[in-house]
Amino acid sequence: MTADSAPDVLVRPGECHVWTARAVSVSPDRLRLLDDRERRVYESLLRPGERALYLTAHALLRLVLGEALGRDPAGLVFAAGPHGKPYLEDAPVEFSLSHSGERVAVALTSGTPVGVDVERVTRPAELPLPVLSEEERVAFDRVPGPERAAAFTAYWVRKEAVLKATGEGLRVDPARLTVSAPDRPARLIGWRGRNDVQPHRTVRLYDLDAGEDYRGAVALLGGGAHRIVRRTVSSVRC
Ligand SMILES: CC(C)(COP(=O)(O)OP(=O)(O)OC[C@H]1O[C@@H](n2cnc3c(N)ncnc32)[C@H](O)[C@@H]1OP(=O)(O)O)[C@@H](O)C(=O)NCCC(=O)NCCS
Repeated sequence: MTADSAPDVLVRPGECHVWTARAVSVSPDRLRLLDDRERRVYESLLRPGERALYLTAHALLRLVLGEALGRDPAGLVFAAGPHGKPYLEDAPVEFSLSHSGERVAVALTSGTPVGVDVERVTRPAELPLPVLSEEERVAFDRVPGPERAAAFTAYWVRKEAVLKATGEGLRVDPARLTVSAPDRPARLIGWRGRNDVQPHRTVRLYDLDAGEDYRGAVALLGGGAHRIVRRTVSSVRC
């Protein structure tokens, strides 16, 4: 598939469709899909790889939404929630976008709040372990050295997917959330300070295969069972 031909999108209640794409090379011609704000962000990026990633992400999101809604992708007008979560004022869909390294992920539902996160596994000299909760830290301390970077990234994407689904993003300290260990099925186990609404009972978490050296997760709010429908885009070429 190319960025000009988004696949058929028919998202039924209880389904979450997820696309992952590789930003290999993207023609600036695709800029015609973006609005002025997106174009300004694109222009502000210095590295070709960053530009390709941003353009792929925003072009894919627009193509998917345009197809789902039967609208011109370039004509979609995005609004933003209090912490920046984008939405469409005049459409009953929920969506989420993530980009990292050379990977893009877009998730779409027919109304269930959704968050998606992909991250490239990097190996910094020191991992930012304070983002893990005490419970996660106990399990993480048992992870052997060579597996730690990937395991840490798996924790991170699970947490961030939840925080993107609620729209709070990093306004909430990720250490407040406890998710299952990477070798266990993805699950939100607890959320310190939110026991009143017990979000861990109503959040559904799923791992997302985003390719070698990447980790990904999708979170859905509302408690019902969901079917994750994978829509892979091997590369968005222009
Ligand atoms: C949302 C957030 C978690 C993104 O994390 P990230 O790993 O850097 O980026 P990702 O690629 O996964 O996601 C970025 C996309 O998420 C979406 N997004 C932005 N804010 C969001 C929010 N509050 N909730 C859900 N989605 C959000 C946008 O589509 C964004 O794409 P864009 O930057 O190309 O426009 C982070 O930027 C955040 O928490 N922002 C809101 C809170 C804030 O203002 N924090 C300031 C620093 S503490």
